[in-house]
Formats: sequence, C-alpha cells, structure tokens
Amino acid sequence: MADEEPTKDGKQTEEVPTGISATYGGTTWVPDAFQLEMGYKVPEPSDLLHGRQADRSDGAGSRQEWIEALSHIVIGVRDVERSEEWYTNFLQLDLLGRDLTAEERPHTVLRTNGGELVILVEDENPVPLRPGTMGMHHSFALTPNQYRRMVQRARDYGYQLVNLRAVRMAHGEYEVTIPDPDGHSIEVTTTGPEAAEILRSDAGVVDCGPASAYKVGAVKLFVEGNFFIVRLKEGFLAMSQWCTHRNGLLAYQKAHWQFLCPFHQATYNCRGETTGGPATLPLRLHPISFSLEGHILVDTDEVNSREHFEPAQAVQPPRREAVAASAH
Ligand code: FES
Repeated sequence: MADEEPTKDGKQTEEVPTGISATYGGTTWVPDAFQLEMGYKVPEPSDLLHGRQADRSDGAGSRQEWIEALSHIVIGVRDVERSEEWYTNFLQLDLLGRDLTAEERPHTVLRTNGGELVILVEDENPVPLRPGTMGMHHSFALTPNQYRRMVQRARDYGYQLVNLRAVRMAHGEYEVTIPDPDGHSIEVTTTGPEAAEILRSDAGVVDCGPASAYKVGAVKLFVEGNFFIVRLKEGFLAMSQWCTHRNGLLAYQKAHWQFLCPFHQATYNCRGETTGGPATLPLRLHPISFSLEGHILVDTDEVNSREHFEPAQAVQPPRREAVAASAH
C-alpha cells in the first residue's frame, strides 16, 4: 500500500471507505468498524442528564437546549505529576485518578465541583494558551468564599495577580488570570452578592426637558442620572441604565431599537423587557412627574423593580389645558 501511515496501535492503516480519520501527535488514526458503529448510534429519547433532569428551558428564547453542560476539557501538560499537584492543591480540583480514559498518553483526570472533568494529558511540547492575552484561556467559576481562599493561596504562591478584563467587569464581578505550570492562562472568576444590588446615581431629580420634545419612539440617555427616557405610544418610561443581570451599564442601539449590555450580551427592548442573554427581569424604573411647564422630572433616588411590562407603567403627560389650569 502506497503512503502507508501507522494507526495508533502501530499497525498500518487500511483503506476505510468512510474517509473518517483523526491526526494526533503526527499519527493518523482511523477508527475501526466497531468504533464507527458506536459513533453512529444515538441513545433512546430521554431528558435525563447523568441521572439528573436536564430541563433548563427558561421561556426566554434560550437556544441552550443543545448543550446541557460542559463534559470535559483536555489540557496538554509537560509533566502530569507536577500539573496534577498544581490543579489539585492550588486550583482545588478533585483528583479522580490517573489514566482512567481511553487516552493512550499518561494523563490524570480531575473534576470540578460542578462535575465537569479536566483531563491533563502529557505532551512533550504543550502550547501555552497565549499567556497575557484574552483570546485563549480556560475559565473556572468559584463561589465568593472559594475565590477569596484561592486569592490568598495565589499570594502565598507568590503570584502577581492580574485582571486582564478589569475595564469590562460588571459591578460585583471578580476575576484574576494566573498561569499554570506550563503557562496556560487560567482565569478564575466569581460573582459577589453586590452584583444584585440596586444601584443609584446621585443625580437626584433630573429635568429632562419638555415632554413635547419627545416623539413616540424617541430614546434619550441621561448620563448623569444613568437612565434612559423612552417615549412609547402609551407614555414615558424612565429606565435605569444598569442591567438587571449584574449591573453592567447598557448601551442603546438605535438601529435595533434595543439596549445591549456588553458584559454578558443581555438585550432589552424599548419597554425594558429582556429579549436575549442571561438577564431575566425587565429594566428598573424611576418615577416620572411633570413640571407646570410640562417638563419631565425623573426621581433617580427611587428605583422600582418589576416582573413584566404593563402599559400602566408608562406615564402620560398631563393634557395642556390641565397644566394651564393648575398654573392659575
Ligand atoms: S451584567 Fe451580565 S448581561 Fe448585563
């Protein structure tokens, strides 16, 4: 056979009509008939995920039904023993054991509290995932207390703690990036209880100008008070600029008539309802009143949460005759 290549067990490859193959470490592997048959099998219908109910439908248009959880990640390391010690002692992953999978190279299997596996596989020349960049890294989420203990261990290990994303953090998010023994960027993150705080600007009552200056569909940001005025056909809303997910600051996307949170990509329509991303509650509202001159007054000291949009939340300006009458 011309251009013969070894299989993973050192035998020569035979022509396989499917053309399916994989290359690892310079060796081409072609699955045998049994593996092909197993690969094409699909399980019986079930909503159980490893014995757990896997229903995460949130009714908010999520498309996540295709992936229920991360099963495992594989990281190439030069010295399995050294990295095993780092990932268990420093990162506090649970050690399940050595060489437990079909992987032929020496490896160790670790597990997070969430049940995902991290498999460290020996590799003579692991490619660090571009330390010092945001592009390629592994990120682990901890509880706030686990995070505090991890930061203390990092200091004990002599790490200089770096947060590459400091300018993009939402309120209450914490993160540091630490290199593992091979230089892979390991990001560790947590979310503190303050992420759910209701934030207020110190702008007090803001005069947003005459109501008559806003056409239906108009949206205007008041930076000093961190809120948007929106004119709906039902009336006015004064919506907080802070995202209800974790207090990221929203941007208005005029072309889409929506608000976007750049922190985790939550989107809201102009009634403040969520239309995508992780936020579940609509944008919070400030009370609106009108001056005798018909100006919109927004009280930023008061912030009201809501479950849904209701037309009654939109405030109508008083009719011109009523304003004129009350002025006399
Ligand atoms: S803070 Fe997470 S989506 Fe806004």
